[in-house]
Amino acid sequence: MAEELHITGETRKEKYESLLPQIIALTEGEKDLIANLSNTVAALKQTFGFLWIGFYMVKTSEKNKSEELVLGPFQGPIACTRISKGKGVCGTSWEKKETMVVPDVDAFPGHIACSSASRSEIVVPVSKNEKVVAVLDVDSELLNDFNETDKIYLEKICLHVSRYFE
Ligand code: SME
Repeated sequence: MAEELHITGETRKEKYESLLPQIIALTEGEKDLIANLSNTVAALKQTFGFLWIGFYMVKTSEKNKSEELVLGPFQGPIACTRISKGKGVCGTSWEKKETMVVPDVDAFPGHIACSSASRSEIVVPVSKNEKVVAVLDVDSELLNDFNETDKIYLEKICLHVSRYFE
């Protein structure tokens, strides 16, 4: 099967409306988590061109047996590998179990700067049986680039991909 995205629409909302069913179609017949998360971030990157898009997965550290976020499938510049609970925007989203929209990363206390080009960010938790199993992190080079539309659609995407976690 030739996999190609066909994004229609002008506004970001219209593009999400066009993208969402395609992400579902692209991942639905496949059970492999990494493959599905990889195509999900690639589809988002292809559609919107954001600076950085990726998943951090909740994993148990070999060293101290505590849980932490570990870098998963992503598109964009290299990023920090591990993030502790409550740290940065990602660790805060995980701890609070809620989406964080950060209009200006420099104004977010404790923001972890993986790329100096990042100006704004949105992080959405992925939950399975009421437990956060990963977060989706999206970074933009533009200030104040994310709003309620991104929150709504990225949450829909995260709800969809949650089914691929054990
Ligand atoms: N900025 C994030 C760290 C991850 S990178 O942006 C890819 C944070 O503060 O958690």
